Amino acid sequence: MPAAAAPSPVDTIAVNLGERSYAVRVGRGLIERAGAEIAPLLRRPRLAVVTEETVARHQLPRLRAGLAAAGIAAESLILPAGEGTKSWAQLERTTEWLIEQKIERGDMVVALGGGVIGDLVGFAAAILRRGVRFVQIPTSLLAQVDSSVGGKTGINSPRGKNLIGAFHQPALVLADIDALDTLPARDFLAGYGEVVKYGLLGDAGFFDWLEVNGPAMAAGDRALRQEAVRRSVRMKADIVERDETEQGERALLNLGHTFGHALEAATGYGDRLLHGEGVAIGCLMAFDLSSRLGLCAQEAPERVAEHLARMGMKRRLSEIPGTLPGRDGLIELMAQDKKVQDGTMRFILARAIGDSFVTAAVPRPALAALLDEALG
Ligand code: GLY
Repeated sequence: MPAAAAPSPVDTIAVNLGERSYAVRVGRGLIERAGAEIAPLLRRPRLAVVTEETVARHQLPRLRAGLAAAGIAAESLILPAGEGTKSWAQLERTTEWLIEQKIERGDMVVALGGGVIGDLVGFAAAILRRGVRFVQIPTSLLAQVDSSVGGKTGINSPRGKNLIGAFHQPALVLADIDALDTLPARDFLAGYGEVVKYGLLGDAGFFDWLEVNGPAMAAGDRALRQEAVRRSVRMKADIVERDETEQGERALLNLGHTFGHALEAATGYGDRLLHGEGVAIGCLMAFDLSSRLGLCAQEAPERVAEHLARMGMKRRLSEIPGTLPGRDGLIELMAQDKKVQDGTMRFILARAIGDSFVTAAVPRPALAALLDEALG
């Protein structure tokens, strides 16, 4: 009989935050093993799982089987898919459902899904009974490399994205690489925008690695995907450990987001532009602006643009379908950014690939010229 293939190893990244410390587990088959992974954290063998329609179809049966295998009973709530779910209405629905399920202070809530579900369920867990524990099971690349780690939770206000929320760290994160198999190619590449961001903001060697391995990763190579998620999470964990509540360095994780959020707001937070697509375009604009200000060599934005093109990703504003507001409209949207301090916009700019910093010193004419050129 041929020997069974050895199970692929699972990586464990520790997020060291004192009594709020937790592990991020990255590997294949973690959803099937979720019961065994979560059981040591439970006071009683029952859980409440919150997910959304699309993820429920692909992943909820796997999770149910994994929990049942460890004798854990689970009730589930299935919310609508999409950014619109990060709303007061769905937060109310989720918290009331958790109360109906008699989730107690010592119980555990599971967020099974992408960034929308992770943010909403994490926030519900933060405010239910003044805080219950939760497990993140991120199923999109974006959620695995960014939103499931670091404890930012929240919903959108009709006046802006992520304006209502709390820091609430998960008790465990299970990033199952197999869950990425069912992601549409466009969603995978949007999440890849956040992966590239890590290389650009602080690890030139990682960007070199992505230039070589990005295409095979997008084509489905699971070992490369695991390595990219592991490296991204390690970088994020290091930054979050040093600056949990974003008093300084954590703002670097917003590279590309000032431009990206403005573009998302301009396109209605929908199908015209996904979050990670806005981040990728925004990263390139941040490098263009840095080069325009003489902070980095012109080759840096050229290299970023080449990599995005090779990955088949959007790079320029002209690739966003439909019309965009003009230069001043975009600047106004950028001024809504959470990084605005005392009315002054702050930007993440770069001295080179892998060397970024926060600054308020961006002269308005340089920003206007960049946007004029970008808008063509
Ligand atoms: N996504 C940015 C952060 O977690 O700080």
